[in-house]
Amino acid sequence: TPIDAFDMVLFGGTGDLVMRKLLPALYHQHRDGNLPKSGRIICLGRSVPDNAAYLDKAHGLAKGYLGKDYEEEVWAAFASRVEYLKLDANDPAEYSKLADKLNEQQGRSRVFYLSTAPDLFARICKALSDVGLARVPNTRVVLEKPLGHDLDSSNEINDAVAEYFDEQQIYRIDHYLGKEPVLNLIALRFANTLLEPLWRREWIRDVQITVTEQVGVETRADFYDKTGALRDMIQNHLLQLLTIVAMEPPASIDADAVRDEKLKVLRALKPLTQEDVHTKVVRGQYRAGAINGKPVPGYQEEPGVPAGSKAETFVALKAEIQTWRWAGVPFFLRTGKRLQERMAEIVINFREAPHSIYGRGTSPNRLVIQLQPDESVRLYLMAKEPGNQVRLRPVHLDMDFKETFKTRSPEAYERLLMDVIRGDISLFVRRDEQRAAWRWVEPILDSWENSAEGPKPYTAGTWGPAASSALLSRDGLSWHEES
Ligand code: BG6
Repeated sequence: TPIDAFDMVLFGGTGDLVMRKLLPALYHQHRDGNLPKSGRIICLGRSVPDNAAYLDKAHGLAKGYLGKDYEEEVWAAFASRVEYLKLDANDPAEYSKLADKLNEQQGRSRVFYLSTAPDLFARICKALSDVGLARVPNTRVVLEKPLGHDLDSSNEINDAVAEYFDEQQIYRIDHYLGKEPVLNLIALRFANTLLEPLWRREWIRDVQITVTEQVGVETRADFYDKTGALRDMIQNHLLQLLTIVAMEPPASIDADAVRDEKLKVLRALKPLTQEDVHTKVVRGQYRAGAINGKPVPGYQEEPGVPAGSKAETFVALKAEIQTWRWAGVPFFLRTGKRLQERMAEIVINFREAPHSIYGRGTSPNRLVIQLQPDESVRLYLMAKEPGNQVRLRPVHLDMDFKETFKTRSPEAYERLLMDVIRGDISLFVRRDEQRAAWRWVEPILDSWENSAEGPKPYTAGTWGPAASSALLSRDGLSWHEES
């Protein structure tokens, strides 16, 4: 449904996410003419004195983040939508200011984006409710991760928010679900008939989902050291990708039809025993090394990281899904910081040919959906090299999104912010999905907490600890880049 006007309120308006991702995303959508003509972006914060100072700061930073997409005139027009309101989110007395501002306009789609620490969520929602801004038609609240640090704390936050907003108003954001190749994977699976008959245990040997980064902990030690890679990446982003790969075909593209199927996958994940955590989960932490030839410090030497920290900066694990479609097919998930390359991909490895007339030298088919650095889908097939000999080689059919569609691929946050403005909740995580994901990772957290052993060291700039390769070689397999 077309929306003619909106008000988007960004809590944590002076913070990193707003400056680095949200304002640039809204700028792009404004530039492309997708943002409704009238719409205000109201940024809340405490640390900046007034509107002029805020716009100054936002402008300076946006210029850097937007790079060649920055255009003076477009920015000026965009900035005229942005208003800064100095407000202490902790102080309920200040919310009437916000209510007055919003009530200047009626009948708009209204979004409260909580880009703050999650321990503020309950207070913010209550304060919004107290000034009559919560259960209002066309009003939505966006919750940024981390939503808690375990099952109990995430339940607490969700309970608190649910006192003031209905589930249909609550948009739990996982920006991986807004990445174009992820949406394309859904199209690939459900708008084509070719793959579906093969998309099962009879034809698929293993699935690998990898998100690696070259950056280290950057300036976020405070947050990251309490969080670690399992909570920061696996519990949300990688498990969400797994649901997209593994879910049954939904009956429709309707938000709950899709989310029901995703939930079933999370609930079918085989629970990990303490013993499983030892054998099927690898945790690592980077030591000093080099990235692209440049020396970098180890995690424990990073500013703000306490000596002896056991926070994991790398996780690799083997998951299994207990359904007829997937029984016996390992799903390997892997993520880490300070690794050799920045890369995000989903690899589907098909089974070997049942009988080879060529002897050795053929390799199984493989489908690679790359999210980063490039966006592409690649299908590897065996082909014969031209010439008198019979020499086979894997070649690939390639769909590079940039090449194929010749348009800019919007960033995940652009897509997701537009969805919130329009009220499309399909790409947001439902409460029961989140609960199921926490429940599945909980035994890992418990086991690590009770273990004297820390994470395995790996040298920055490698692919992680040796145990990560060993995890696959035990099943006679190897990671995509090693094979
Ligand atoms: C965030 C994590 O959710 O995702 C970060 O908190 C991580 O630690 C980031 O760097 C990765 O996102 P992307 O889109 O850059 O792959």
